[in-house]
Amino acid sequence: MRLPEHVGIIMDGNGRWATSRGLPRVLGHRAGAEAVRRIVEASREAGVRYLTLYAFSWENWDRPSQEIQELMGLLDEFIQRELERLLANRIQLRVIGRIHELPTGVLANLRSAAAQTAANDGMTLTLALSYGGRQEIVDAARRLAEQVQQGLLQPDQIDEERLRQALYAPDLPDPDLIIRTSGEQRLSNFLLWQSSYAELYVTPKFWPDFTKDDLVEALVEFERRERRFGRTSAVSAAPSSTPRG
Ligand code: FPP
Repeated sequence: MRLPEHVGIIMDGNGRWATSRGLPRVLGHRAGAEAVRRIVEASREAGVRYLTLYAFSWENWDRPSQEIQELMGLLDEFIQRELERLLANRIQLRVIGRIHELPTGVLANLRSAAAQTAANDGMTLTLALSYGGRQEIVDAARRLAEQVQQGLLQPDQIDEERLRQALYAPDLPDPDLIIRTSGEQRLSNFLLWQSSYAELYVTPKFWPDFTKDDLVEALVEFERRERRFGRTSAVSAAPSSTPRG
């Protein structure tokens, strides 16, 4: 089976999962955190090398402060409870986003977990936190502008590769497959630069209901699709530069 090397997931529908059961939204997020545990394990078992989860978008800061606190609490709990399992399964934890905006305690625990798992080579789990694709491109543009200002770079030296290098995690390969739960057919500001050639897979299931079998179904669908990358014949890898046409 031809597996996607890098899978990104837009975990949507926690709130609707809860309200459809007459429960408070926070219980939807709690069930969502259980699904995260499940899918991290299932991805590792399936042989996915990189898994990136959209866990808290930059736009999510606009939610009521109580919900933000609850989400941060769940995240903190997840990091502390899962660290042992990440180590046992040789999973490396990484974070992308404007992470300096996270609560200090959560950030400290994230950094510590990232440091402790840095040498793991089983799978790379990246959490997108306080993350937005446009914000990432803005941050990259600022970094390049600083280099120009310092005389380290000429404006005409800025090309796709330089911009890519200024993104949050330039060493991660682009995602091959983006999964979105709960039916919406949008990227919602997730990995905008990196997902230029990603296959999109949308399931109507709410994130807390997403199972290992659902993941396998998405992987099988990925294998089935012919990937053309804008060319006329199918190819097995992304082009090194942007194809025309
Ligand atoms: C969307 O549900 C999901 C989120 C806001 C973020 C995902 C968060 C988790 C899975 C829980 C904690 C994360 C980790 C990594 C342990 P929604 O509230 O937008 O659902 P709705 O669209 O139905 O309202």
